[in-house]
Amino acid sequence: MEFTLIKAWTEDSIALVQLHRPEALNALNPEMFEELLTALEAYDADAAIRCMILTGTGRAFSAGADIKQMAGMSAVDQMASPAPARWERLRRLKKPIVAAVNGFALGGGCELMMCCDIVVAAETARVGQPEINIGIIPGAGGTQRLTRVVGKCKAMELILTGRQVTAAEAEALGLVNRVVAPELVLDEARRIAREIAAKSPIAVRAAKECILKAQETSLAVGLDFERRMFALLFATEDKVEGMQAFLEKREPKFKGS
Ligand code: CAA
Repeated sequence: MEFTLIKAWTEDSIALVQLHRPEALNALNPEMFEELLTALEAYDADAAIRCMILTGTGRAFSAGADIKQMAGMSAVDQMASPAPARWERLRRLKKPIVAAVNGFALGGGCELMMCCDIVVAAETARVGQPEINIGIIPGAGGTQRLTRVVGKCKAMELILTGRQVTAAEAEALGLVNRVVAPELVLDEARRIAREIAAKSPIAVRAAKECILKAQETSLAVGLDFERRMFALLFATEDKVEGMQAFLEKREPKFKGS
């Protein structure tokens, strides 16, 4: 795959995608977003890849939507924008994504981080939804996803003031799994990705689907969904291998079948 605004490569069963527009703090313009989706969808469809890592080059994970590009847009332009469809494609990815948040994750960058499944952040990272400072509101799920994670009061504070929080505060809020020194952020993401990559990819996919379901449905519907997925996994060879390996006191070798 040939890209200009991102870098993408694989390391064994892990795929890494790096937003690479450092001069604009990896602001998400349509061209970069398309490249990002092309890479992530290709890895999502590749059976050899078990887990993906998303990070940024330079001082930012991403500073959000490209304000220079948005400045000239009207309401009609926004209504016709392909951006919501792009975010929807991101939401449909089946494999887990570990975010390695190397710096600013603001606005659409924070929304992108929240679309990932596990978040490792550098101590120096700053997270927030500063759209209010430029006369708009989050437009890619920020008011919804942030509120589900941190609750109404904290979401109100962050979105109405536009305040950037430190990585440590983001961790305390439940937005970030762990905070590490900046030079360790990618390695820690790799460590987690490798751990996930060693599991049954079918079970991993089912678990991701069930957990995301919890964010958008009632408990009763979610429990019903989980029960069906649980039963379905009993039809896999990985279930047989996992349980057999436990009984034989050895490490399982999952094939994804
Ligand atoms: N869009 C376009 N360009 C951006 C950008 C963005 N979101 N964020 C930073 N840049 C550019 C700057 O314009 C600057 O480029 P020039 O040198 O060509 O002027 C370059 O990146 C470096 O930025 P700064 O000089 O501002 O760096 P700083 O260290 O002084 O500040 C910052 C860093 C606090 C992150 C600041 O750049 C900033 O506030 N950025 C905007 C953050 C923001 O408001 N994001 C929300 C965007 S709206 C959105 O995302 C909507 C949505 O929900 C999808």
